[in-house]
Amino acid sequence: MNQISVFDSPKPVFSPAEAQRLLVRDYGVEGTLTELVSERDQNFLVDSPAGKFVLKIANAAEDLDFLALQNAVMKHIERADPELGLQRVVTTKEGDETVQWDHGTSRHAVRLITYLPGELYSAASNSPALLESLGTFMGRLSRALKGFGHPAAFRPGFLWNLDEVMTVKPWLSDIVPERRDLVARIFARYEARVLPSLSTLRGAVLHQDANDNNIVVDAATSTVAGLIDFGDMTHGRQINELAVTLAYGLLDVADVYQSAAPLIAAYAKVFPLEAEESTILFDLVAARLAMSVCISSRRAKEFPDNDYLLVSQAPAFRLLERLDRTNPEFFAAFTRHAAGLAPIPTSDAVVEWLSSPDCSPHAMFDVDLDRSGRILLELNSGAPGMEHAADPQAYWNWLKARLHDEDARFAIGLYGEVRDVYKGEQFATAASPEWRSQHLGQDIFIAAGTALRAPLAGKVLSVVDNALPYDYGPTVILEHRAGANGTLFWTLYGHLSRETLAMVKEGQQIAAGQLIGSIGEHTVNGGWAPHLHFQIITDRLGQSGEFPGVGQPTLWPVWRAISPDPNLILRLAPESFSHDRTPPDVLLKRRAEVLGPSLSISYRKKLKIVRGRGAYLYDHTGRAFLDGVNNICHVGHSHPHVVEALNRQATILNTNTRYLHDTILDYAERLGSCFPKPLSVVYLVCSGSEANELALRMARTVTGRRATITLDWGYHGNTNGLIDVSPYKFNRKGGRGKPDYVEIAELADPYRGQFKGYGANSGIAYAASVAEKVELIRETTGHGPAAFIAEAISGCGGQVFFPDAYLKTAAEHVRKAGGLVIVDEVQTGFGRVGNHMWAHGPQGIVPDIVTLGKPIGNGHPMAAVITTPEIAKAFANGMEFFSSFGGNPVSAAVGMAVLDVLEQEDLQAKARVTGDYLKARFTALAEKHPLIGHVRGQGLFLGVELVKDQVTLDPATEEAGLIANDMRNHGVLISTDGPFDNVLKIKPPMTFRLREADILADALEAAMVRV
Ligand SMILES: Cc1ncc(COP(=O)(O)O)c(C=O)c1O
Repeated sequence: MNQISVFDSPKPVFSPAEAQRLLVRDYGVEGTLTELVSERDQNFLVDSPAGKFVLKIANAAEDLDFLALQNAVMKHIERADPELGLQRVVTTKEGDETVQWDHGTSRHAVRLITYLPGELYSAASNSPALLESLGTFMGRLSRALKGFGHPAAFRPGFLWNLDEVMTVKPWLSDIVPERRDLVARIFARYEARVLPSLSTLRGAVLHQDANDNNIVVDAATSTVAGLIDFGDMTHGRQINELAVTLAYGLLDVADVYQSAAPLIAAYAKVFPLEAEESTILFDLVAARLAMSVCISSRRAKEFPDNDYLLVSQAPAFRLLERLDRTNPEFFAAFTRHAAGLAPIPTSDAVVEWLSSPDCSPHAMFDVDLDRSGRILLELNSGAPGMEHAADPQAYWNWLKARLHDEDARFAIGLYGEVRDVYKGEQFATAASPEWRSQHLGQDIFIAAGTALRAPLAGKVLSVVDNALPYDYGPTVILEHRAGANGTLFWTLYGHLSRETLAMVKEGQQIAAGQLIGSIGEHTVNGGWAPHLHFQIITDRLGQSGEFPGVGQPTLWPVWRAISPDPNLILRLAPESFSHDRTPPDVLLKRRAEVLGPSLSISYRKKLKIVRGRGAYLYDHTGRAFLDGVNNICHVGHSHPHVVEALNRQATILNTNTRYLHDTILDYAERLGSCFPKPLSVVYLVCSGSEANELALRMARTVTGRRATITLDWGYHGNTNGLIDVSPYKFNRKGGRGKPDYVEIAELADPYRGQFKGYGANSGIAYAASVAEKVELIRETTGHGPAAFIAEAISGCGGQVFFPDAYLKTAAEHVRKAGGLVIVDEVQTGFGRVGNHMWAHGPQGIVPDIVTLGKPIGNGHPMAAVITTPEIAKAFANGMEFFSSFGGNPVSAAVGMAVLDVLEQEDLQAKARVTGDYLKARFTALAEKHPLIGHVRGQGLFLGVELVKDQVTLDPATEEAGLIANDMRNHGVLISTDGPFDNVLKIKPPMTFRLREADILADALEAAMVRV
């Protein structure tokens, strides 16, 4: 072999004096010569008045074509990147790049090249900045050499060409026996991971020898200033350049990752890596080290006197050992990340699919985690409970007590938490002094024995017992696809029970929701309090059965791509993962100081609600509560279409009705068209109270009268004028009774009132009470009432539905006396009753004035009054009606959006279906529980009246309160109302579906048993 012959052939041995003489002769350079270290050539540093140079006297066996290649490279770089610190060829007096000098019988090629000032890298102190500078330098070199070619760069049989590393594999036997297996493993790794794709990687002419005695550093700036010695140049795989640089650069560094990352990043910034190159970079680093120890071991045998040959072995073995003990796939991910590429090419696609509507994971536990109370744990010394860290049973006892106190069902251990609890040697890392401590999964602490279900369909990849202390214990890994034919990914379930090992088999197909195991006791689960460690894996790193559950914090961006947030599948609300600094007790105190005490607050255990979505409200701990009572957020909490409309219009303009605006008119026309003629004229206001105030003002203005008939237990708003017509207020605590100008008609309550049943007979009979009041008013005032005001269904009265013909007959009595009929639809409108848009619809009446509120803006403060053109005209008596905010463009846009959603999602029809189902479930419950006296309602406006006695109808007030509070504690919100507060009120957002109906009915059933 060529190189062996260079070694066979002795080094040139010119004396300095002789070299000096020849130098003057051929180059005209006169200076002092100092011999430099060289393995096979003879080099002198020339210090002359013209500057410093290096005189290179080649080994007699040196290939002249190869020297021509080196000269050509220097010239090429001079053009491609003139600033790059490489030496330049100095020509002889004759203009030649090379001369021949004879010594004895041998003839040597001689070149004079410029000298690069600075210190050697080997003398400089290593730092990330220096490594970065080296990366930049080498990147520039690769970039400059991109277009370079030369026939002599193809060096068949050149030993140091990393592409040919397999050539030296037979020399394994020359390595000291105790290191042989290590190097054999490195070759095996190379054969498996590099060789198959080697020929498809891009090639280039490479320097291949950026070792610390060839790199020149500018000491002042601590940056790489140059690179010398082109003796190992060859054409090879492009990536070898970086691999060789790292093989030297990483020798004896404290932290392989922290040293490699800046170097790779800087290199790739100048000269981008390809993904395939990044994937095998560290295998090539290892291969280069293996190559060098093979070659040096063989040489050491051949030249037992040459100590230099073994100099680099020890650090090389040390690095090889670290590389050998590190997962090559992890190195690949690390390198891709360092090179600015995606650490795991498929990770984003998996995350995207998991976040898409196509993926709807099944619950992993039979307990509904979303609606269960939860505790957030910190697994670090000093955190609550960690005094028991060494004793899993004691920790679990502590946790159980806390779960009980907090009314919680499970506790969460955080994804991404850096923990100091990982003590086993398996958490140490070979390539860096950093331990693996950042949690890659999410923990769910829940009782041992709790059944575990697969969240997604898949196949069992492995089911094994990882029985080391602090390990996973019995562990299941499932394999999934991100959609049909999508990319593969895996989910890991650790710390399971022994029984799990017999529950699923490797290769078994698993359906979403299928039982795959159960939570293990600390005695079998690796020595932890019972919990599930749940982790997503986008790249198995070639492992099976087991997988790292924690990673190095400094490598988190890599680990995060390998194991993205498990909550993509668990889907607990975001509030679950942080401690709220102002929990309910804190707010309650502040509220008592700053808000008036007349404001009531729901439930014994107060709720801090921070977010809403659809039919669910979320508290400060992320616990979801099914909202069974909020009819204001009619089309679902924070419906995106409504929010978007609000945002859009608020961004453009918000004024008032004193300017012309298309949206206001579009909305008024659209809202008006939802009513039968002649109801068509719209007034836009801000609250139900404002609407009812306006309705009464209209009726009184138009009739010139004041007297008003209202229904017993009616509620119409919070103003003075409305309290006057609200027996629910003036006849209860703090009320001052009925004013003179108001008369109360009997509430048409077919269950509790004097006329039973929903037939027209009952309705007509109740309407007689209105006729009576009309007469009474006529007697006292000499004329009829200004108005009769009634809710379409009595809400505060206890979800009381009127019997047939009631409103129609009552209206006839009122109208005969010249009064107007106001129907308050503030609670009940917009399709809630299912079969009609307005709850007065089934009563067969067209009111004179209808008031709307609550659901109209899905939570945005707006309301409306609808009347006939005739009444509107009569009302316009010269006094202006103006509401600063009523009918502003933002409210109009919101109102429009609510109507859009109602139509697009067909919510009225769905309310009927869900309502019928819910009512049927309540009716079935009533058969089992005599506490339920009456189930009533339509669509999603329902009432369940509780009585102690089915005959006397003695109201079960206390029980109703207990049930509402019990349901709240179990994650379902309803309220109570009615004269005796014994009616369970159910009026949820219209997005309630059968699933929600079941949750509510189940919670009611359970509460009835408990109470
Ligand atoms: C039937 C009825 N009318 C009017 C109102 C008053 O509406 P607001 O609170 O928007 O002023 C309410 C409020 O609860 C109501 O239930």
